[in-house]
Amino acid sequence: MGEIGPIRRWLPGSAPETVTRTAACAVIDVDLDSPDPGRGMELVRSFAEKSSIPIICVLDYSAEELERKLRVAKIRALGAAAISRPFEPSDLIDAVRNKDDQAFERKAVEHGGAVGLGVAAAHGMLTNIFRASRGGRPVPFDQVKVKDVVIIDALRTSGIKAWLDLVRQHHNATYRHSLLVTGVAVAFAQALDMRIEDQQRLARAGLLHNIGNALLPLDILENPDVLTEQELEQVKKHPVLGYELLVREGGFPEEILACVRHHHEFLDGSGYPDGLSGLQIPDLVRIVTIADVFCVLSEQHAEKSRMAVERTLGVMESMIGKLDGDLLRAFRTIAWDPA
Ligand SMILES: [Fe+2]
Repeated sequence: MGEIGPIRRWLPGSAPETVTRTAACAVIDVDLDSPDPGRGMELVRSFAEKSSIPIICVLDYSAEELERKLRVAKIRALGAAAISRPFEPSDLIDAVRNKDDQAFERKAVEHGGAVGLGVAAAHGMLTNIFRASRGGRPVPFDQVKVKDVVIIDALRTSGIKAWLDLVRQHHNATYRHSLLVTGVAVAFAQALDMRIEDQQRLARAGLLHNIGNALLPLDILENPDVLTEQELEQVKKHPVLGYELLVREGGFPEEILACVRHHHEFLDGSGYPDGLSGLQIPDLVRIVTIADVFCVLSEQHAEKSRMAVERTLGVMESMIGKLDGDLLRAFRTIAWDPA
């Protein structure tokens, strides 16, 4: 575990407030087989009440007994994560991440309204897809399309600004970006009066467009510094990695595969990975590309105001030739300000 960072041990009975003042997370061993498993549960409860850091309980819940399951459920109800033994240091990191993701999803649901439900639905699908891909588990297409009507309804009812405001509270840049692109692509489709089926396609394409990133090393993906040339080359493989992943999985429609593989292509042929140009790039891909460029550029502004939208649109208009001019003009008509 030392590879994560400094480890500090404490004795049972230490005050959680003292122990956790400088810790990034608390790992508590809960022995469900001890004569008094309630003591471990008490410790978890005490940390949950008196500290705000993530709590991860390590336990052995490979057995199927109902009593154990109930205790695991109680641990989770206290807001703690549970992982089973044996585990790797990376499992601890994943447990903290998953807990943060669950916290965001709860926040979205508590936010309420169509936008809260829509963002929570999109987030649930996105995290399932990414975790499965990272873990080498299947990503069936049926899982990706199950709640897209909720997403579409959220954009239609609450508008893009509410979507962006909520999604921007997500701590993880990879998830945040895919959720932003999903919202912007669907809002764009609505501004274009596209059929509901096309809105659904764009919701799915938005969630999946960067799925190849799930196969990149996290230290590159989450590196806050400027990437080296070699790292950039690796990042640029994500469209092909994502495409190949979904082709291997099978059952994904051509238009979704095209969005995953080609969302970094430009009309003048200067994009990647295949250097497609002009009519080789289908409309659905062009829409995802515009949503993607908008989200990347607008995330670079510290303030997320109408000014940031204006400046971003200005930069994008200087990219006509790479991006579709007619679509860009229509992109302006999205209701960036709430009615
Ligand atoms: Fe991408």
